[in-house]
Amino acid sequence: MTTVKKNISVFLIVTMVSLLLGCSHKTLSVFFDGVPMDNDSTKMLVKKVEKKPDSIIVKELAENTDVSEHSSHPPFASKKCRTCHDPERKGIMIESQPALCYQCHDVIKEKFEHGPVVSGNCTQCHSPHSSDNPKLLLRVGQALCLNCHESDRLSTIPEHENTDQSPCTSCHNPHGGNKRYFLN
Ligand code: HEC
Ligand code: HEC
Ligand code: HEC
Ligand code: HEC
Ligand code: HEC
Repeated sequence: MTTVKKNISVFLIVTMVSLLLGCSHKTLSVFFDGVPMDNDSTKMLVKKVEKKPDSIIVKELAENTDVSEHSSHPPFASKKCRTCHDPERKGIMIESQPALCYQCHDVIKEKFEHGPVVSGNCTQCHSPHSSDNPKLLLRVGQALCLNCHESDRLSTIPEHENTDQSPCTSCHNPHGGNKRYFLN
């Protein structure tokens, strides 16, 4: 990445976060203090972290975490591990989901809400760190949904005829929606 592109992405992220947060200084400073996103490769970043571990979780990450490069979560890529983990307590979460995620993301509020969204199981679908798939998704296409829903049962629904290849999200919104079954 060129320096210009890097600066633009840092700017965009900061802008988006300030919009999301209504410019709360406390959380914004998370992105300003400490380490800038001076490396777009998470792998390189982990190498650097390895050299200078600043907490138990950073060390653990270097040893255990599978690092992929397609989509990387900004607070992870910029080493803001503490926005989610408490290093003083062996890296456990500072809060449970969905509150953990709603520190920075708009609360998902829909007339009909999807079960795992209501129960705060965001990481059943998204990696909190990075993923080979877009939008930090753990799986793509039908596999994302069929991890929990049984395809045998679904195929008995007439509306599902001839949907063998279509991603479920071509008809259903994954978070919820105004219509029953979160139909688009
Ligand atoms: C946006 C919140 C968030 C940020 C930022 C974050 N993590 Fe995590 N991390 C999580 C969650 C949530 C889990 C549990 C994963 C799950 O639910 O399966 C986790 C799990 C882990 C684990 C356990 C092994 C694994 O990969 O599942 C390690 C190690 C870890 N994180 C290290 C880090 C380090 C090091 C950083 C900073 C470079 C970091 N995390 C940044 C949310 C975060
Ligand atoms: C410290 C702030 C922060 C926290 C906490 C946080 N995020 Fe994010 N997240 C961001 C920023 C910044 C972006 C990039 C801008 C955007 O898309 O909103 C982002 C983007 C995303 C994206 C879109 C990625 C893409 O490639 O477009 C997903 C999905 C996501 N976050 C899920 C989560 C989940 C799930 C949690 C809780 C485990 C979480 N986030 C917690 C700051 C945060
Ligand atoms: C059933 C799987 C699933 C669950 C559970 C889920 N998401 Fe998502 N999420 C998705 C999919 C699929 C997309 C991509 C939508 C697209 O590209 O149109 C997405 C997109 C996103 C994005 C990117 C912006 C957007 O809206 O497109 C954010 C941020 C996000 N999810 C946050 C969350 C948070 C926070 C939670 C928990 C409260 C959560 N998600 C739970 C499947 C899920
Ligand atoms: C982590 C498990 C999980 C994943 C992954 C998941 N779901 Fe769900 N889904 C549930 C739960 C739990 C419910 C609520 C219980 C129920 O109504 O069956 C639900 C309910 C639904 C409903 C409403 C059913 C009703 O009768 O009101 C639809 C539609 C749906 N899911 C579609 C999807 C689609 C599309 C995807 C993929 C984008 C998906 N689900 C991924 C767990 C999951
Ligand atoms: C062509 C559009 C379309 C596609 C693609 C599609 N669905 Fe649906 N789905 C529907 C419609 C329409 C309904 C509502 C049926 C009704 O009104 O009874 C529905 C209903 C559902 C329900 C609720 C059924 C029940 O009885 O509880 C679930 C769960 C569901 N779909 C999951 C999925 C999953 C998972 C996939 C991907 C494997 C998928 N759908 C793909 C259109 C679609």
